[in-house]
Amino acid sequence: MFSPNPNQATLFDPIGLGPLMLRNRIVMAPMTRNRAGDQNAAQPIMAEYYRQRASAGLIITEASQVSRQGTGYLNTPGCYSDAQVEGWRKVTDAVHSEGGRIFLQLWHVGRISHPSFQEESAAPVAPSAVLPKGEVLTAGGLLPYVTPRALEIDEIPGIIAQFKHGAAQAQAAGFDGVELHAANGYLIDQFIRDGTNKRTDIYGGLPENRGRLLREIIESVAGLWGSERVGVRLSPASSFNDMSDSDPHSTFGYLAEMLSECGLAYLHVVEESSASSFDWGPIRRAYRGIYMANGGYDRSSATSALALGNADLISFGKPFISNPDLVGRLRNGVSLSPGDRSSFYGGDERGYTDYPALEFLN
Ligand SMILES: Cc1cc2nc3c(=O)[nH]c(=O)nc-3n(C[C@H](O)[C@H](O)[C@H](O)COP(=O)(O)O)c2cc1C
Repeated sequence: MFSPNPNQATLFDPIGLGPLMLRNRIVMAPMTRNRAGDQNAAQPIMAEYYRQRASAGLIITEASQVSRQGTGYLNTPGCYSDAQVEGWRKVTDAVHSEGGRIFLQLWHVGRISHPSFQEESAAPVAPSAVLPKGEVLTAGGLLPYVTPRALEIDEIPGIIAQFKHGAAQAQAAGFDGVELHAANGYLIDQFIRDGTNKRTDIYGGLPENRGRLLREIIESVAGLWGSERVGVRLSPASSFNDMSDSDPHSTFGYLAEMLSECGLAYLHVVEESSASSFDWGPIRRAYRGIYMANGGYDRSSATSALALGNADLISFGKPFISNPDLVGRLRNGVSLSPGDRSSFYGGDERGYTDYPALEFLN
């Protein structure tokens, strides 16, 4: 049984993140909840949802598409139009009014889209024309994915510009920073892993080339925000969205080294794997900076990860859906409410803003 040493970090200790001081090490993980309406703009109910969870040391919003081209789901909030900025401004004001901190997760889905989301019903774009297995939920129901169009090399500056524009809009909306969504099989991850990247130019082949798009996006976004307000999320061993890599330790070991040189706010790793034996140690050790771990953590495993120095921050996803007061519950050792999965993706306030919070004296 693990018993923490009082000199080691706990979930409830503050921590500096670049220029920010977080009041604890419990982060709300990014979670798409599909409540942004068909204009794809954050709604007032979303401000209430995030306000309820503002006792987290940091909130990372649900993924927010940086362009129409980057859209692949219904009712997700974008960050490219001015109306979308206005919607997000209500969210940041609500979280800041509670003394919380909030980063926007910047997203381009790449091949995980469908022509019905695209201008002129264009094919979705990707590093290579590799068809994902599975189906996509469109306004017309579930449809098979289509084979994406491989981006031409001269289109890549335009992709970087989309992220830069989203990052500028995030500044206008009052966020404290941004997280680049380079995980879970979306565009940046499609470049990183060799199951989806078959390119023969400088964006394909060796890990250094597959990580080039991420590096160039970081440089561009850090030019606006300062690298210390930019986080990056990776999912080295997840097969979600039909992803694979022939050598994840080499690919992500390289990335952890490369990202160590970037002066980021943090590296956020989804420590979930279809192979139960995946060894996270090499990637954790290769990254020199604030390391945020995610994936199935509870009070006990999060406490021991911090105490053992395996992580500096822990992000919690599903526990935050049904426990807006997760920080208080973890601090007081109170059991967690179970979530209702049927209301995770879309719907109204039910299963969204109606989970009760307990009163804690601290
Ligand atoms: C409803 C739901 C929506 C999610 N949406 C996102 C998302 O927008 N961006 C992202 O990076 N991960 C997303 N995830 C993954 C979570 O951030 C997290 O990695 C996953 O839930 C595992 O953490 P947990 O065991 O603490 O829930 C989502 C997960 C859930 C359950």
